[in-house]
Amino acid sequence: MMDPWQYLSMWFEKGDHSSTTPFVTAHGKPFFEYVGNEPRLNHLFNEAMANDSRLSISVIIEHCKEIFEGLKSLVDIGGGTGTMAKSIADMFPQINCIVLDLPHVIEGCEGSKNLSYVGGDMFKFIPSADAILLKLILHDWSDEDCIKILKKCKQAIPSKENGGRVIIIDMVLMDQKGDHNAYETQLFFDMLMMVYSFGRERSQQEWAKLFFDSGFSDYKIIPILGLRSIIEIYP
Ligand SMILES: C[S@@+](CC[C@H](N)C(=O)[O-])C[C@H]1O[C@@H](n2cnc3c(N)ncnc32)[C@H](O)[C@@H]1O
Repeated sequence: MMDPWQYLSMWFEKGDHSSTTPFVTAHGKPFFEYVGNEPRLNHLFNEAMANDSRLSISVIIEHCKEIFEGLKSLVDIGGGTGTMAKSIADMFPQINCIVLDLPHVIEGCEGSKNLSYVGGDMFKFIPSADAILLKLILHDWSDEDCIKILKKCKQAIPSKENGGRVIIIDMVLMDQKGDHNAYETQLFFDMLMMVYSFGRERSQQEWAKLFFDSGFSDYKIIPILGLRSIIEIYP
């Protein structure tokens, strides 16, 4: 995880920024592909994400669990080992939850009455549901790839009138004039995304452009997760 930083200046000067990252320069393949061949890192990364999810879901359930009310089905895309989906499935027994992630991530995960796992590639297939959850997914990807993912999500959900929505959990870059430490931390995350993935953190205007370019009609930002926000988007 440290090596890619040694290649940052080389990547800045010589890299084709749309087809390579400092991580690829250091390790020869993109992050998620590399993780798939390194069981120790796979386990460590999935556990780190699960811990992050435990914190997020506890705040969501305390402060805005209504975002899940009325749903009969939900797919957590890139949902890791299912920490978020498990909590939602337990809290809302009427919601049928599906976790979609890469096969090496969900290997060995066990579902329950209203929780199941699908191994696959979100760029190829997204199961249909009333709502789709994308937690810390879009910041890993370029605008072009985000639009591909969001268009697939739109095809998989019902109309706005019938309750269809995508629930995104990611950062909305705050105003530079606000809390300096918080803004700086968001920019550190932006650098992490630049080094490890093809993604970035985005401002409200940049998010809005992505949503409208993907065919969504409206969005709502719920800023309850500290540096991160919940963003609901509607077809
Ligand atoms: C930053 S992690 C977020 C995990 C989880 N949503 C969370 O917040 O705890 C990104 C997830 O996307 C998954 N992922 C990456 N590429 C994918 C693909 N093409 N199809 C499905 N999942 C993918 C990774 O395996 C990883 O679990």
